[in-house]
Amino acid sequence: MVQSKRVAVFGAGYIGLVTGACLAELGHDVTVRDIDSEKIRLLRTVGEVPIYEPGLGDLIAQNKERLTFTLDAAEAVRDAEVVYVCVDTPPTSSGDADLSRVWAVIHAIREANPQDLAVLAVKSTVPVGTGERIRTALDETGLQRIRYAANPEFTAEGTAIHDFMHPDRIVVGTSDEATARLVTELHQGVHGPVEAIDIPSAEMVKLASNALLATKIAFINEIATVCEATGADVQSVAAAVGMDHRLGPHFLRAGLGYGGSCFPKDARALRAMASNSGYPFQLLNAVISVNELQPRRALLRLKNELGTLKRRKIALLGMTFKAGTDDMREAPSTIIASRLLAEGAQVQCWDPLARSAQEAPWNAAARHPSPAEAMTGADAAIVVTEWPQLKDLDWATVRHLMSRPVLFDGRNVLDPQSMRAAGFTYMSIGRP
Ligand code: UDX
Repeated sequence: MVQSKRVAVFGAGYIGLVTGACLAELGHDVTVRDIDSEKIRLLRTVGEVPIYEPGLGDLIAQNKERLTFTLDAAEAVRDAEVVYVCVDTPPTSSGDADLSRVWAVIHAIREANPQDLAVLAVKSTVPVGTGERIRTALDETGLQRIRYAANPEFTAEGTAIHDFMHPDRIVVGTSDEATARLVTELHQGVHGPVEAIDIPSAEMVKLASNALLATKIAFINEIATVCEATGADVQSVAAAVGMDHRLGPHFLRAGLGYGGSCFPKDARALRAMASNSGYPFQLLNAVISVNELQPRRALLRLKNELGTLKRRKIALLGMTFKAGTDDMREAPSTIIASRLLAEGAQVQCWDPLARSAQEAPWNAAARHPSPAEAMTGADAAIVVTEWPQLKDLDWATVRHLMSRPVLFDGRNVLDPQSMRAAGFTYMSIGRP
């Protein structure tokens, strides 16, 4: 039987909403707080989820008696026994993580002085040492009774609810066993092993995990480049390399590079953290520059094929950083669209879910309701996101809508032979 707790979750973004909904599903009473009044209004009045995450709307609806949404920080913490911090920590101009939203939560706790609050748990990705600084700040204001836990999240967008409920591990960083036990109890019903460690190590696990995953992607993209020069096929290479149980098959998909809210930001934050302590993280530097180069290299190949990009019409198929999400954060498509426009090309794009972005470069790109319409009159099309719809497209027919049948598959989702048979000049990443 789950010991139900009163939990306040700060941040109604991808992490906070999933955490809140999943904790409610586990039987806890959850109040989610955000500073965005429109978000809170939607969640409160129409039960509308302001982001796209499969299953989240249903989970929130099923648990509505145990879920409250508020703008009021004091109201959120007043009766809470556990506070979860799920606010974003975007990079500052120096590359360090901006912790101002995290500190705003600490400030709200100090102001409200909640009597029942036992644990402050941080899910936001923070530099190592943040927990200790928060500890000191709490102690200095007489809040020694509030225990601290670093409880990083490892959920990926598109599968976040499953990832929360069936994690590879639940990392619980605390300085005492009682707090670790309390955070573990909160997860009763979640199917995954608990790794109870110290706070700085828990903070580092998150950064190290994301950096290692980013390294795998950069590595396979480097291999793809060598494959292009030598005639090997990166898909066959990755499949066989991944069969080695010591290496594993995951995160070996070559493409236009990683994007999203975590990998780019966390890799830079870890590099900044290392630099701040006088250590140049060389390997991570290389990973970051390989990833930055990847979309630019693809455009260079396309430019060579077309002779110039000036006044060329280019269709971008997919805008989000990966399929299954509406998230455009750090999407390779943004670099590609910017570069194309800077070269004087015309950009016509399609995406089934991407949030409509008003700012550059998207304000200068025409968005179309279907891949075929985006490809009409185009001199080339680039598959930027691996949307499953693209696999089922009648390519032989859409080819005739294009001015020139040049297709750059930036995610290696199409079959080279069929595309060539359909009449395309077909290019992809690391395949002959
Ligand atoms: C990631 C982590 O997986 C998750 O644990 C963490 O909590 C947040 O960051 P997410 O950003 O949602 O999750 O997406 P993920 O599926 O991991 O993909 C990240 C990026 O890497 C995407 O742009 C994806 O296209 C790219 N990628 C992934 C590759 O280019 N190749 C691969 O083999 C795998």
